Amino acid sequence: MAPSVADIDQSNTQTVTSEVLKLQLKDDSQNKQQDKGASYPAYLPYFDVTEKFPPTEIFEFSDPAIGADPKKPHLFFTGDVKTNHLSPYIGTEITGVQISQLSKEGLNELGLYAAERKVLVLRDQDFKDIGIEKQIELASHFGKIQRHPTSGNVKGYPEFHVVYRDATDNIFREYGGDNRTNKTSWHSDISYEKQTPGTTFFWILDQPDVGGSTLFSSQVEAYNRLSPEFQKRLEGLKAVHSAVYQAEFARKRGGPVRREPVESEHPVVRRHPVTGEKALYVNQGFTTRIVGFKDEESEYLLKFLFDHIAKGADFHIRATYKPGTVVVWDNRVTTHSAVDDFSDNVRRHAVRLTPQAEIPIPA
Ligand SMILES: [Fe+2]
Repeated sequence: MAPSVADIDQSNTQTVTSEVLKLQLKDDSQNKQQDKGASYPAYLPYFDVTEKFPPTEIFEFSDPAIGADPKKPHLFFTGDVKTNHLSPYIGTEITGVQISQLSKEGLNELGLYAAERKVLVLRDQDFKDIGIEKQIELASHFGKIQRHPTSGNVKGYPEFHVVYRDATDNIFREYGGDNRTNKTSWHSDISYEKQTPGTTFFWILDQPDVGGSTLFSSQVEAYNRLSPEFQKRLEGLKAVHSAVYQAEFARKRGGPVRREPVESEHPVVRRHPVTGEKALYVNQGFTTRIVGFKDEESEYLLKFLFDHIAKGADFHIRATYKPGTVVVWDNRVTTHSAVDDFSDNVRRHAVRLTPQAEIPIPA
């Protein structure tokens, strides 16, 4: 039930104040000699335990990709664009498109393409250098950005979800459990919200030379692989998605819990508002039980579905990061897991903006 680094790191330095961090760095002579520090210190995780948010309110949402031109002339408006599908079902690597230069129509088409391909890996972006306000403005095109209840954010900008790990900071293993054979943790971000996230932006600031990638699964293909009889049984079911564990973990570490944890009931199979595709909408990170089932029934079904998602290498991809990479994915039709395969001494620093979309539409 452990979310990935992306969600783990929301809690990761809550007890590591800057003073403690400096002391730890001082004690680590090897690190002291070699480490030049974060490339983007303005985006280091910020934790204010006194910060509080009111309960989230429902807002009107209409997906901007509805009605976007399927030929995407405003996205692929230069001859330099190259696309490389990473697998038949999910994932496309794109070069020659600069997100920061897209018009409103271009952004709509980006959202449509993300919904169709589930995950877009955009290379050579200037996104990390365009400034906080512009980053928020672009991501806000896709919905109201979630302010995370427990994660490190950027001082003054609670819209940011900061993912950070270095030689002094390795909460990763603690959150996921330190007695596991692997650290794969499939989840869909913040699925406990009533309005779950849609088109999501994640960009890298510092990355290992090798490793530190992200696994993604197509939840549409995961649904399609099930037998028609099984699909019929799932449609109409609801599952509970809970923020309780995440909040408890944050409290245990003395970190902020900016609003009380919520639980939401979502359809087990949801329909995407733009593509109309049906997707399996349960995830090991946050889905806790099937509504109306007895405990053993719920555990049995969820275990099957979680295994099905985790084992479906024929509907997964591995998104890799290079300097300038921005990954845009649709959280409604994917699950993902960080890959914790890099050295403890290596810094990995990334930032997520997570626009919330519609209340899930039952299939
Ligand atoms: Fe995540």
